[in-house]
Amino acid sequence: MSSTSNTGLGFLANVRTALSVAGGIYALALGLIAVPYFQSHALYLNALTLPFFADYDAPERYGLAMNKTYNFKIQTVDNETLGAWFILSESFYQSLPSHSTIPKPFVQHALRARPTILFFHGNAATRALKARIQHYSAFSSRLNVNVLAIDYRGFADSTGSPSEDGLVRDARAAYEWLISSGARGEDVLLMGHSLGTGVSARLAAELSREELPYRGVVLMSPFSSISELVKTYSVLGVVPLVKPLTMIPYAFNFVTWALIHKFDTLTVVPQIKGKVLIAHAENDWDIPYTHSEILFNAFLEPLLPPVDIPSDPVSTTKEDWSAFTAQIAARKNERENVVITTRMPNFGVMEEFTDRGGETTVGGERVRGGEYWAAGQQGGGTPRNREVIFVKMLEGNHDYVGVQEGLQDIIGQKFSLLPSSASTMTPLASAAPEATPDLLDVGESTTSEAPTSEAGRWSPITGMSAGTDWPVKVVE
Ligand SMILES: *[C@@H]1O[C@H](CO)[C@@H](O)[C@H](O)[C@H]1NC(C)=O
Ligand SMILES: *[C@@H]1O[C@H](CO)[C@@H](O)[C@H](O)[C@H]1NC(C)=O
Repeated sequence: MSSTSNTGLGFLANVRTALSVAGGIYALALGLIAVPYFQSHALYLNALTLPFFADYDAPERYGLAMNKTYNFKIQTVDNETLGAWFILSESFYQSLPSHSTIPKPFVQHALRARPTILFFHGNAATRALKARIQHYSAFSSRLNVNVLAIDYRGFADSTGSPSEDGLVRDARAAYEWLISSGARGEDVLLMGHSLGTGVSARLAAELSREELPYRGVVLMSPFSSISELVKTYSVLGVVPLVKPLTMIPYAFNFVTWALIHKFDTLTVVPQIKGKVLIAHAENDWDIPYTHSEILFNAFLEPLLPPVDIPSDPVSTTKEDWSAFTAQIAARKNERENVVITTRMPNFGVMEEFTDRGGETTVGGERVRGGEYWAAGQQGGGTPRNREVIFVKMLEGNHDYVGVQEGLQDIIGQKFSLLPSSASTMTPLASAAPEATPDLLDVGESTTSEAPTSEAGRWSPITGMSAGTDWPVKVVE
């Protein structure tokens, strides 16, 4: 009996020791995160240069076709040099008379012939990572677009070290390179994955502010902000990282305060104009899909009537409560009016809405959402004109969302990239009045715009399709 209780006590003591050691390591790790050097490395993981000893001059090694990729350097405004790959669209590549020359002389033609996805990868590793190559490959072949993939400062063969503002400057430099090489802004689709969504959202906000054109922005497996991510992040989807801290008053505030690299996409949402597509897999164990829901709801917020939450539940009268519940019902009802939901069996569900807020000032006619915006919900009467799409998928994990053909096709439709819309125009599409896509004009009707009416908006420059005459003898 006594020996049993001794064993029991000994066991408990061991557990206590183990717990306090674990607690000590945990506290130490959190403390280190507050040190900028460690925080930066923990967030960007740029020291993890996978694949090791990559030869960026040989994209063929990593699965891309012969001489389909131009490896080069982009200069940023603050003199960093970024490694970059420009990958030709499939139709353009196949139209080349020979694959035994490097594609450099053809970049301008390629940019004029097809739209381009400007791809911003997530943290860790390089542009040559296998999962990323699968994305370039799928986009350049299935969507027949060019792809520009860069490595941020401090990553791969780029110079410097990463910082939030630095990454946004890198993104801007890549956009500027495309424009100065001959792309039209309207033909540049920004796309970010994971950490790259923080970068592409900020670039989209910056371009919107400066009224520079871009076709839209795709956020794959995004997070709403790093502080929210830290709160919800679980190591390997199992061990909550800082959740225990939320039980200690102020401890979580410390973590948020110590964050240098905030990537607060949530706060840049109001500045983004044009078309936004958010995609997230339900089985993403790195970043929960609730982050995408938070982002989608933030875009939606100005379109919904506000709810006044009773300040003191104890002294709230019956009338106050019924007013409150009526407000909630009205909000729910308006959400159902505004958001179109499409269920795709075995794939996922798509929610979308068009927001033409800011137009209420003209005419005085009720434009959905405009009034809530005008009421100063999110900081004033900036005119918005955007379409937001949220694709919640069953599969895709964290890294393979963009590899799902279902999502590729939705991206193709929503951003008018599908090859069918370029070459074989249906009579309906060719009769459409608009010849070119206009980013800041997302269409006439608010919600019922069918994908087919989008088709045919992208018109390739004549003479640029396969097998036609264009100067091919520009070899150096
Ligand atoms: C970048 O380099 C150029 C020439 O090497 C120099 O003139 C310029 O001042 C530099 N800019 C910055 C921001 O360091
Ligand atoms: C790609 O182009 C380079 C130089 O233009 C050439 O030396 C090389 O053989 C080409 N690669 C292939 C696989 O044809």
